[in-house]
Amino acid sequence: MTGKYRVLVVGMGKRGMHHAATFHANDQFEVAGICDIDRARLEAAAPKLGHPETSADASALAQAVRPDVFCFCTLPNLRLEMIQIGVASGARLIAFEKPIAMSSAEAMEIKKALEGGGVKAVVSHQHRYGAHYRRVKEVIASGALGRIHTVYGTATGWMMHLLSHLIDYMRWYNNGVEAEWVMAQASGRGKLAADAHVSPDYIAGFIQFANGVRGIVECGAGAPDVPEVDYWWRKVRIGAQGTDGFAEVLTGGGWRAVTKTGSSSGPGSMNYDLDMPPYIQDMAEWLDDDNKVHPCNFQSAYKGHEILMGLCRSVVEGGQVALPLTEGADELELLKTRLPEKRVLFSTPANVKEY
Ligand SMILES: NC(=O)c1ccc[n+]([C@@H]2O[C@H](COP(=O)([O-])OP(=O)(O)OC[C@H]3O[C@@H](n4cnc5c(N)ncnc54)[C@H](O)[C@@H]3O)[C@@H](O)[C@H]2O)c1
Repeated sequence: MTGKYRVLVVGMGKRGMHHAATFHANDQFEVAGICDIDRARLEAAAPKLGHPETSADASALAQAVRPDVFCFCTLPNLRLEMIQIGVASGARLIAFEKPIAMSSAEAMEIKKALEGGGVKAVVSHQHRYGAHYRRVKEVIASGALGRIHTVYGTATGWMMHLLSHLIDYMRWYNNGVEAEWVMAQASGRGKLAADAHVSPDYIAGFIQFANGVRGIVECGAGAPDVPEVDYWWRKVRIGAQGTDGFAEVLTGGGWRAVTKTGSSSGPGSMNYDLDMPPYIQDMAEWLDDDNKVHPCNFQSAYKGHEILMGLCRSVVEGGQVALPLTEGADELELLKTRLPEKRVLFSTPANVKEY
């Protein structure tokens, strides 16, 4: 492509600004429009982004700008509506934030809308661009761990903030193999009632992958501490175990591996300034060439979301849940009706003030 891809970014909060500033800094993109219902945010953002068109009305702006890329970074309550606006605008690519939806029913509608419109879509699981995240992937791919039998992920932050990240990188470490079933338990209603990222306070579960690899996840108030990391939101541990060793990444604390030939480790901490430029660049590559599919493509994120919602269904229904899901449901509403009133129990004092 010789001209620049025109981008519209909706939501000028923390993540919207990360996206807009990174598009603006990339020669292959031009920020043509920005949108927020908060006027002050719009006015503060515009001069930093080359004075694009502004509006509080995403649909009207999308029709006026006709962007190549429709990007939205609103809180999780706004997903399907924004996808529909993006598809109607004629955008070739929609970039949006995790979690992809608040229910399996909504995710299925989003999938249908994207496929119907023939639109590429990318979901912001950009931690994988971190050098420490990639190092673990390299160790796994090198065969140094032998035959992988387990992938795992834990985070003390709550489900709708962090579980899609954990699952996305576990799937990556397991080469994107399909999940066959999941089973889970959950506890604590605090974040179900009073948070934009509606979640049980704690969820723990198992994933059966088609290659026999076991996935183990824990997210929230009861998840184990990651004592190597001080910053609470980065107390995230994701890794793989094989017949010859293990390798794991800590979002805020580097990576380490133990293999037959010895142990190794290195630094690294999640950093938006480092992770966003290649994440955005890969959108240009995919727009330029259909074969250069973005690593954070929607199809992959959708499979992760099915796992997430399958885990919630298991909490509600009991027992194992087969994947892929065939019927949509509203899993978070079901959790609200079924989770007991008992207060969650904590794994670490640091979690008490967060829940
Ligand atoms: N990928 C990551 O590493 C990462 C990190 C943090 C947050 N997130 C995700 O990013 C998303 C946004 O989080 P945030 O922290 O940037 O939120 P935020 O509250 O800072 O920003 C959201 C913005 O959307 C605007 N908005 C709301 N309704 C709108 C509408 N109808 N039209 C236009 N604008 C509207 C709000 O006014 C606000 O400015 C969430 O889904 C969150 O889970 C991802």
